[in-house]
Amino acid sequence: MTSKTLYIVVCGAPLASRAGDGVRAARQHGWDPYLIPTDAAMSWLADQDLGDAPVITGSRNPNQLRRTPPADAVAVVPMTFNTLNAWAIGNANTYPLTTLCAALGSRTPTAAVPFAKNDLAGHPAWLASLAVLRYAGIRVINPHDGSTTSVDPLESGTGDQVATNFRWQWVLNQLEPQIRSS
Ligand SMILES: Cc1cc2nc3c(=O)[nH]c(=O)nc-3n(C[C@H](O)[C@H](O)[C@H](O)COP(=O)(O)O)c2cc1C
Repeated sequence: MTSKTLYIVVCGAPLASRAGDGVRAARQHGWDPYLIPTDAAMSWLADQDLGDAPVITGSRNPNQLRRTPPADAVAVVPMTFNTLNAWAIGNANTYPLTTLCAALGSRTPTAAVPFAKNDLAGHPAWLASLAVLRYAGIRVINPHDGSTTSVDPLESGTGDQVATNFRWQWVLNQLEPQIRSS
């Protein structure tokens, strides 16, 4: 079977501690994963076993060859409040955001797991940005239970617990049917 390319964009929130698990789960499901962390995510990746998955950071030199094959699908796990809003308005001033804006513009199958505590989610941009992403076809996944019909923010101080209970299967289940039907 030919592997399908999965970009895993990782933002700076406690669920970034599960990126290595995401690499292993993706491979078990036939994906060839590439990690694309934001700067803020890097400290969560430092001590993880990432299974030697390529970690793509910073913009490439104009003379450098492409560092990744084209994506068959994209997972944004976790998606911070900051990246959610930047992506929704089309801000492409970092490599992860450029990747996300291009994925949305090309309608590449994408699933995102918003991860923000109540205080941030109370800002009106939260609902507005989620609506933009859903309108564009992004599968938005609740970090608590994998639901795609609602997204619950986190109680303050529960980030590590929610990250522990999170299942990568929730994300992979949303992406594989889209690939098969495309
Ligand atoms: C310990 C820690 C936990 C954080 N948890 C969250 C979080 O759960 N959700 C969130 O949106 N931001 C969280 N932040 C803040 C983001 O890391 C910060 O907004 C950062 O600028 C996000 O950048 P990025 O979107 O490029 O990853 C956390 C920061 C720290 C240091």
